Amino acid sequence: MTTHGDANALLSEIDGIGIDSDRGGYTRPVFSDAELELRDWFDAHATARGLSVEHDGNGIIWAWWDAPAPADRSEHRARSGAIVTGSHLDSVPGGGNFDGPLGVASALAAVDLLRDRGVTPVRPLAVAVFPEEEGSRFGLACLGSRLLSGAAASETVRALTDDTGRTYADVATAAGFDPTSIGPDPERLADIAAFVELHVEQGRGLVDLGQPVALAGAIIAHGRWHVRIDGRGDHAGATRMADRQDPVVVAAETVRALRAHTLIVDDARGTVGRIKVTPGGTNVIASAVDLWLDVRHRDDEAVRRIVSEVVAATGRVADAEGCAVTVTEQSFSPTVFFDPALRERMQGVLPHAPVLDTGAGHDAGVLAAVIPTGMLFVRNPTGSSHTPSETAEAADVTAGVEALADVLEHLLTR
Ligand code: GLV
Ligand code: MN
Ligand code: MN
Repeated sequence: MTTHGDANALLSEIDGIGIDSDRGGYTRPVFSDAELELRDWFDAHATARGLSVEHDGNGIIWAWWDAPAPADRSEHRARSGAIVTGSHLDSVPGGGNFDGPLGVASALAAVDLLRDRGVTPVRPLAVAVFPEEEGSRFGLACLGSRLLSGAAASETVRALTDDTGRTYADVATAAGFDPTSIGPDPERLADIAAFVELHVEQGRGLVDLGQPVALAGAIIAHGRWHVRIDGRGDHAGATRMADRQDPVVVAAETVRALRAHTLIVDDARGTVGRIKVTPGGTNVIASAVDLWLDVRHRDDEAVRRIVSEVVAATGRVADAEGCAVTVTEQSFSPTVFFDPALRERMQGVLPHAPVLDTGAGHDAGVLAAVIPTGMLFVRNPTGSSHTPSETAEAADVTAGVEALADVLEHLLTR
């Protein structure tokens, strides 16, 4: 099957990689065999298209279609800003095949389309693949773009640990990456004029509007907090109720309080999607619980208020139970409003595309702090994401590639 210009065909090529038979869907954490296989797949496709593939110190892949040599230096200076498009290939545990890969496959297909159209870029174009966008392995979402832009400190990242306690530095080294080379790259960023990320929509906006493609307006603020509750392990039958210091009871209050305090703030979202009980035996009173809060709202301060209420409620029950609580902020990303000038240009190219805000985080949101960024969303009939039921119709994927190619053509030729 040819994949030329066909993001659907590209996505089918990877639909066997990283299948998770326990959870369903795909599990493709950064530096796993599945994610490394996807990186090789991308490199092969970029190389086959004559793009020059570069792996930078942050584990970001850049596949360059260089603009023709400029006629003179002043023209070069005026037009040197590169246009970048792309997304990520890692996934959440048990995720779908579209969150991330759709943007990467569409970028490759859009390059084919631009060439078929005979477009002659006056600026370089890169297709970029960002590592650990989901933060599923090391807890910090958009790790690659945070490193690139300096939003995450290299020392901190090297020390991050995964579920097995291995550090980023160790895991990266074992996967063939050099963890000493991570860090901000302002020179690279200075050469980029704009980043446009195409992504499957992670809600029902386009379904409700009956449209295949949208532009992004904003990403609502979101943060992640690690809550550690230490109690006292003991025997489930031999320990009287009055003698217990059970961290699971405290964790239950954290979950309850998060739901209650989120519900009273209009359009806020609060989730506990990951809980680890130690040691985790049916007949064992736990000694510790780790859980993670994910809280989002358009108003940055509303997110912080919800979290502080939840922390206070947790503390009260922990005191009564004789448990100790430690809360660590893993990340906080304020609401991002995408570059209005870039969006205006994109709207000029795609006048029928509605503008939608999103509750999902993206590398484009992190990079928005340092370069003009924009996003395209492709309709997802289920409206669901981070689950195997996330999907996109073939015709909408094709419409997304065409929209991306139209935007890139505009940006690359002016
Ligand atoms: C990533 O998709 C996130 O919003 O957590
Ligand atoms: Mn994504
Ligand atoms: Mn995601």
